[in-house]
Amino acid sequence: MKILAISGSPRRDGNTEILLDKALDAAKNKGANIKKIVLSELKFSPCLECENIRKDGICIIKDDWQKIVSEIKKADGLILASPIFFGSVSAQTKMFIDRFQCLWLAKNIFRTYKAKQRKIGAFICIEASDRKDFFENAKAIVKNFFVTIDTDYKGELFCCGVDKKGAVKKKSNCLKKASEIGKRMATSETI
Ligand SMILES: Cc1cc2nc3c(=O)[nH]c(=O)nc-3n(C[C@H](O)[C@H](O)[C@H](O)COP(=O)(O)O)c2cc1C
Repeated sequence: MKILAISGSPRRDGNTEILLDKALDAAKNKGANIKKIVLSELKFSPCLECENIRKDGICIIKDDWQKIVSEIKKADGLILASPIFFGSVSAQTKMFIDRFQCLWLAKNIFRTYKAKQRKIGAFICIEASDRKDFFENAKAIVKNFFVTIDTDYKGELFCCGVDKKGAVKKKSNCLKKASEIGKRMATSETI
């Protein structure tokens, strides 16, 4: 089982990455091959709505986003994690997702692309407040993204009341659930 984790937080070693690392450690302990990508460490453009797009689902912008796509292609499981910023996923996460518009068009409009296999996916999300509507908002975006990349939305962790860097270390229920996600994804159990 190859598991790819993608962190959408710009704060290195912050709450998002702590939960993601917890999930990855658990997955590794169960024998999974793991890899983590931190979006803020990469240089990529937002979607530019290019006029001269390709019709086969491949984005024409040559930047680090293409490296993420090749890692996604190799993965069996994907864990996407983002903090809530102004009621939604972080800008880094949204920028990354928007670039899949070319794939969405190839699948739904040009009908030139069909996935060979499906993946399983989970979403980890963190916020300072206790706003369920913010999590629902982020979840709708991620579910839409997962459908586009032929990934079944199988698990989620919404961790609220976490603000200061590292504060999530005191949230034992969130840490436990993150481990569960990683473990279950590695063993292909229902997550
Ligand atoms: C730009 C910005 C916007 C934020 N907006 C919200 C928000 O709308 N609701 C909320 O509950 N927390 C919000 N937060 C708090 C973060 O979600 C919270 O601090 C989270 O733990 C950060 O995770 P990280 O350490 O991985 O970056 C915001 C933080 C920043 C920096």
